[in-house]
Amino acid sequence: METIKVPLKERSYEIRIAHSFESFGDVVRSALPAGRTLLVSDENVHPLYGDTVRSLLEQAGFHVTPAVIPAGEESKTLAQADALYTAAITAGLDRGSAVIALGGGVVGDLAGFVAATYMRGVPYIQLPTTLLSQVDSSVGGKVAVNHRLGKNLIGAFYQPRLVWIATDVLRTLPVREFLSGAAEVVKYGAIMSESLFCLLEEKWEAFRSLDNRVLTGVIAACCRLKARVVAEDEREQGLRAILNFGHTIGHALEAATAYRYYLHGEAVLAGMVLAVHLALARGLLGREDGARLLKLFARVGLKTAPPGLAAQEVLAAMQQDKKRVGERLVFILPVAVGQVRTCDYLTAEDILPVIRRYLTGTAEDLLTCE
Ligand code: GLY
Repeated sequence: METIKVPLKERSYEIRIAHSFESFGDVVRSALPAGRTLLVSDENVHPLYGDTVRSLLEQAGFHVTPAVIPAGEESKTLAQADALYTAAITAGLDRGSAVIALGGGVVGDLAGFVAATYMRGVPYIQLPTTLLSQVDSSVGGKVAVNHRLGKNLIGAFYQPRLVWIATDVLRTLPVREFLSGAAEVVKYGAIMSESLFCLLEEKWEAFRSLDNRVLTGVIAACCRLKARVVAEDEREQGLRAILNFGHTIGHALEAATAYRYYLHGEAVLAGMVLAVHLALARGLLGREDGARLLKLFARVGLKTAPPGLAAQEVLAAMQQDKKRVGERLVFILPVAVGQVRTCDYLTAEDILPVIRRYLTGTAEDLLTCE
């Protein structure tokens, strides 16, 4: 088992990376006083792992109330949070109780939001079951629900007490979901670790076929990098923004297609590809590094652009993004493999041709440096 510390003074916690949930109960007991827990999961994950986690918690002396939400982004709402508050109140959860999130990013964000607000905050534990949530959303304390006017607009920075990653659960994850998470994995290498990038270049096939040793090593490397960023900049005042590489365009693609066309990682991958082209066009990135970045992105797979989408619609969605600063669009652009910089001076005239190239071109064209 790998243990990674997220050092945040009194809010410090550990990320444990194991193959299974075995010994999860013992570790929870050392992280939380025994008491009542709300075990939040969704309709896909609960039938697979809900009973296992419940019995491990019960053996460790916890009282467990399961709460199962519909799967999918539509569940990340205040209405669904309200249903969970009702379940918590009815089950008698008090300030000494805890919330356990068993699922992907939607479950983690929603359950974390409920934990942050129920009785002004109770502890919560993340048991992420998708690659994306294991390497990104379960670590770092961003919890939120969506508003009808935008994603993640209502939320908090609220750190979990423990993150338990069981790599075996990835064996039941659909390939498309795995690759969506792989986009975020590749992102860590591209933004801050040439050694992780090299490891992925060398061991891609083993990673892709879930070789246990490679998978654990890669997930641990991502979590270590994320822990480092969060420890330095918990509330995204500076460094943490580098995690948004690919997200300015990625979020806009998701929003412009009403969150129905892309998985998050697929949109981020398209955003990273376009960020490489923006950087190449400005001479910020050399061709050799650009080609290496694009080659690994190609192995994750670039999703074809949705038919009928206009570049102006993507630009308009970008201008609505909550991460923009005033009127400026902020991009994280690569300057070398493993290195990025913030760029806040690009205009619509700079960005539109690159978006058009994606919307009208072929993947082959986008994935080469020419
Ligand atoms: N997913 C980006 C962050 O946690 O800051």
